[in-house]
Amino acid sequence: MFMESGPLRQLLPHAIHVAEAVKDVEPKENMNPFAAIESAGLQQAAEQRRLEFLTTRCCAHAALEATGVPPEPLLRGSHGQPLWSSGVIGSLTHFATNEDHASVYRGAAVTTLDEFALLGIDAEPRSPLPKGTSEAIVTDAEQRAAAGLFHPAPGLPVSRLVFSIKESFYKARFPVAASWLDFLDVQVDFDRPEFCDPASDSAQSEPISAELDVSGTCSIRMINRTRRHRSLPDTLEGRYLVSGHRILTAVILEARELTRGPD
Ligand SMILES: CC(C)(COP(=O)(O)OP(=O)(O)OC[C@H]1O[C@@H](n2cnc3c(N)ncnc32)[C@H](O)[C@@H]1OP(=O)(O)O)[C@@H](O)C(=O)NCCC(=O)NCCS
Repeated sequence: MFMESGPLRQLLPHAIHVAEAVKDVEPKENMNPFAAIESAGLQQAAEQRRLEFLTTRCCAHAALEATGVPPEPLLRGSHGQPLWSSGVIGSLTHFATNEDHASVYRGAAVTTLDEFALLGIDAEPRSPLPKGTSEAIVTDAEQRAAAGLFHPAPGLPVSRLVFSIKESFYKARFPVAASWLDFLDVQVDFDRPEFCDPASDSAQSEPISAELDVSGTCSIRMINRTRRHRSLPDTLEGRYLVSGHRILTAVILEARELTRGPD
């Protein structure tokens, strides 16, 4: 059921174990012995939500197994966050591209706290955000910088990319910060992106088509100083891959960086 070399594998360092799926598991073929206890709060949820949850938990257990931790239920905290076993950290994401869930993506990333202190991932469809929402998510500075950097891929939904990076940032910080963040509390500063025509599979510097793959790194900076956390740096590293109909983003912090505290 798992993808061999999916976008998350391409995005993250090998010290982070990943499992990804593009098809939901059939409940009768479910191999997760903890499914009943993990989904205890979801009896009233729609079937698609239960399938998405089940499949993403299967991904999580595959990634946990690769990390070498003994199997145990992956429960949810009071804010919906996964409660990882002691010594590990991870993040989950899932989306469906349309209402009939014809195209789905489920992903999990897990690593040890010895190597990484923070890890957040997010997957989104490569499509614009709903009309009227981007002002609450993308700052003017992000919009201006992105217009200059991403012009070789004119169809790239920059606001969705920024949204996803900020979701990854929120998920990465939450296990330590345990606090809400508004999208305009942080700013994404993009490094120069890479464009690749999937048809030729070679790196390109000039515009070719609206559907180029786009990848790169960025930093995500806390611009609302009242939301800083005393034991976390204000700026974290982000990375992204826009390929086919998907956007994948991640925010990570190596363990040795945690001691830095606010910048
Ligand atoms: C929680 C949230 C980040 C989830 O993102 P999403 O794009 O809606 O959904 P995704 O499919 O990518 O991720 C869902 C998974 O995130 C995980 N998650 C939920 N809450 C979480 C939290 N507080 N911290 C870390 N992970 C969390 C869960 O594993 C969830 O899957 P599950 O319910 O099946 O276990 C989002 O709904 C949210 O509430 N965001 C808060 C505001 C925000 O992001 N601000 C950004 C400011 S920088």
